[in-house]
Order: sequence, then structure tokens, then C-alpha cells
Amino acid sequence: MTLTHTSDQPPAPPDNDTVLEADGLTKHFAVRRVGRQAMTRAPRVVHAVDDVTLTLRRGRVTALVGESGSGKSTVARLLAQLYPRTGGDIRLHGTSVTVRGGRRFRAYNRKVQMIFQDPFASLNPVHTIRYHLSRALRIHGHGGNGAAELQQALEELLERVQLTPATRYLDKFPHELSGGQRQRVAIARALAADPEALLADEPVSMLDVSIRLGVLNLLRDLKERLHLAILYITHDIASARYFADDTLVMYAGRMVEGGDSETVTQNPAHPYTQLLISSAPDPDRIVGEGTPDDTVDASGGEPPSLIDPPAGCRFNPRCPHAMDICRTELPPRLPVDGNPDHWASCWLFDAEHGPAKAESAAKAETPAETPSEVSEYSNFPGSDPPDPHETRSGSESDQGSAEGGAR
Ligand SMILES: Nc1ncnc2c1ncn2[C@@H]1O[C@H](COP(=O)(O)OP(=O)(O)OP(=O)(O)O)[C@@H](O)[C@H]1O
Ligand code: SF4
Ligand SMILES: [Mg+2]
Repeated sequence: MTLTHTSDQPPAPPDNDTVLEADGLTKHFAVRRVGRQAMTRAPRVVHAVDDVTLTLRRGRVTALVGESGSGKSTVARLLAQLYPRTGGDIRLHGTSVTVRGGRRFRAYNRKVQMIFQDPFASLNPVHTIRYHLSRALRIHGHGGNGAAELQQALEELLERVQLTPATRYLDKFPHELSGGQRQRVAIARALAADPEALLADEPVSMLDVSIRLGVLNLLRDLKERLHLAILYITHDIASARYFADDTLVMYAGRMVEGGDSETVTQNPAHPYTQLLISSAPDPDRIVGEGTPDDTVDASGGEPPSLIDPPAGCRFNPRCPHAMDICRTELPPRLPVDGNPDHWASCWLFDAEHGPAKAESAAKAETPAETPSEVSEYSNFPGSDPPDPHETRSGSESDQGSAEGGAR
């Protein structure tokens, strides 16, 4: 990932691998007032997303990480054009696109598909898997001519998501499948459109820990085989390290750090990213032993109100390094350690305001054993692509096999 331009500069022409770009993306939701307040008070808005700029590229996974309410799902829904935007631009292959329903939305939707957190809610319980997938294939013009071609397309879809033999699943209802199998069906439905970009909003967070890795391996396999550009939204920065090529960190509606996943997770620059990493579950961290990480507010604090967000850097009320400028001026994206591919929106990395602190922040110790090294993702083989057929830990299998068939 390269350091992208700010929204007041002209956009650079996209390279061949660029699929989807957001530039200065902004979404403010109006706050409804009731009773007398509606007559007497000025309208107010939730600043859900402000000035978000990102690029999704063919064959790459970009993780969007942040705590609850930071605006991750809103970014995905804006990119999917499910919400009108307040400001900014969305470009597909370099062309600005704004669609609201109708044929143009379907054409866009064919290229940009979304996978939701809860596969049960996203599948209609009264319809079979055959119905869901046939409908998606037909809507996107991939249902073939006649029953035999449709059957072949259905079987290919289920095989692509490793639900085999396909005939075992086609006539099941969603409640007859495990959570992991349902999410695989939701992924198959997205693939029915033959998309170029997949927006996966916390695709494994509602699944048992034992089957999360299988679904992430499947997405990684699809990325490699189909060269999909994937946006992977997660709370879990440890999974971003193993699954995503690039990681973007969001705080209170704004991007605060970005770079390749290894760098962002192993050498986090922004104090908020350091907080996220230090507060990720780590069973080996013994309470009361050692000294707390003083690079961040160890108590965590609370994210700010998005109706009236803090001026300047939105993290300033929680940041132990806050300076005067942080309370008044919004920090721009600044390169970290001279690395043009690693940036942080933090005044510590500005030569004028924080060179000394920048050095100390960059050298601030990250926990000796990072959460990722002890997480459920620890059996990912480093940066090597995982074997999609590798068996997962735990006893439940969510994919099609003699042992883990539909239930
Ligand atoms: N339709 C809406 N109307 C008003 N406010 C909204 C709406 N959707 C989201 N918000 C607000 O926008 C902010 C960002 O919400 P969003 O769902 O994008 O966060 P998130 O990072 O996906 O959180 P989570 O991790 O809990 O899913 C929150 O303050 C939320 O309350
Ligand atoms: S800009 Fe200031 S308040 Fe914000 S994270 Fe950096 S040092 Fe902390
Ligand atoms: Mg969300």
C-alpha cells in the first residue's frame, strides 16, 4: 500500500491492480430530535465517517481495524453504495461512481459484493440453499441456459467454497447448516456475481473460534485464485496480521494509521494502534507481573461522542502524548520512520511538532510476545499462503467433508 493523497490533491491515475478507491469518504447521520427539541435546537449529526481514503487492489486483502462504533461498517456500506455519502468520491477502476438503486446499482453490485457478519440473518430461513444461489446466479446473468447448466453453476459455486459434495447442501435450509457452512453459502452467493471486490464485514466474528480459521483460509484462497480485492473488517488486529496484506486502523470515524500488516502490527506507530495491540487478549500476560505499557492510556478510556467529536486529533482526550497542537489541529497522514508505505495521522511524526517524541514512540516497546503469537491464528504459516485444505484446530468442521457434512 502506498501513502495515498489527501482529498484536496488531484487523484493519481489508478494502476492496473486498483479496483476500488475511496477518496475523502464522509458520512454524517442526522440525529432525530423529538418533541420540543425538534423545534428549538439546531439539527445535529453523527460524524460516523470523516475523510476516509483507501484503495483496494486485485489479489490483496486490506484489513480495516477499530473498536466498536469507529465507523468500519459504515465505510463498507458506503463502498457498497448502500448509503448515500455526505462527501467524498468512490471510484471503480478509476471512474467515479454514484448509484442509488436500479440497473446501475445492479451493475455496480455485480463488481462489488458484501458479506455480512451474521450469515443466519443474511439468508432467508424459509428458502433452501438452491433457491438463494439460483436467484443470485440469475440476477447476475450467470445461471446458464436451462436446468442442466444452472445445476452445474450451482455445484461449481459450492465447490468453490469447499462445500462438497455440493448435492449434499443444495436442498438444505439455512438452519440445517453450521455457522461456518452458512457463512460459506453467503460467500458462494457473493461469488455468484463474479465480483472483483469483496467487502467482508466481520465475516468470522459470529463463528466458533474453532472454525474461524477455515473461513479465513477460504477467503485467502479465493483472493489468490480469483484475484479478488478484499476489504476485511475486524475488531481483531491479531487476525489482520495473518490474513491481511495491508492494515488500516480507524478511530472515531477517521483513519489513523496504515501500512503493510506486518509493519502496522509489529511496529505500531499511532498511540491508538498501540492501545489496540496492548489490549488484545493475551493469555500469557500475567496480571500484576511486569510494568504496564506506558505508551498508551492503560485504562483504555472511552471513545468520544461522534455527535460532538473532539477538535484536532480525535484521540487527544485519551492520548498520553497529547500536545497543545493535538487539541486544535487535525494531524495529516505522516510517514513513519521515513517509510512511505507506513503512515500515521499523529503529530508525533511531524518534524516540527514531535521529532523527539516520534523517535521515542517508534522505539516504544511492543509487548515481548504479541497477541498474534498466542492467538487462535498462530498456526498460520507466517506470511506463506495457508493451505486451504489444511485441517483446523477444534473438533467442529464447517466445510463439506465426510465428517463435517450438513446438519
Ligand atoms: N443508520 C444510522 N443512523 C445513525 N447513526 C448511525 C447509523 N449507522 C451507524 N451509526 C453510528 O455511526 C457510528 C459508526 O457506526 P458503525 O456501525 O459504522 O461502527 P462499527 O465500527 O462498524 O462498529 P461495530 O464494530 O460495533 O460494528 C456509530 O456511532 C453508530 O452509532
Ligand atoms: S496527534 Fe497528538 S493526541 Fe493524537 S495520537 Fe498523536 S500525540 Fe496523541
Ligand atoms: Mg460494524
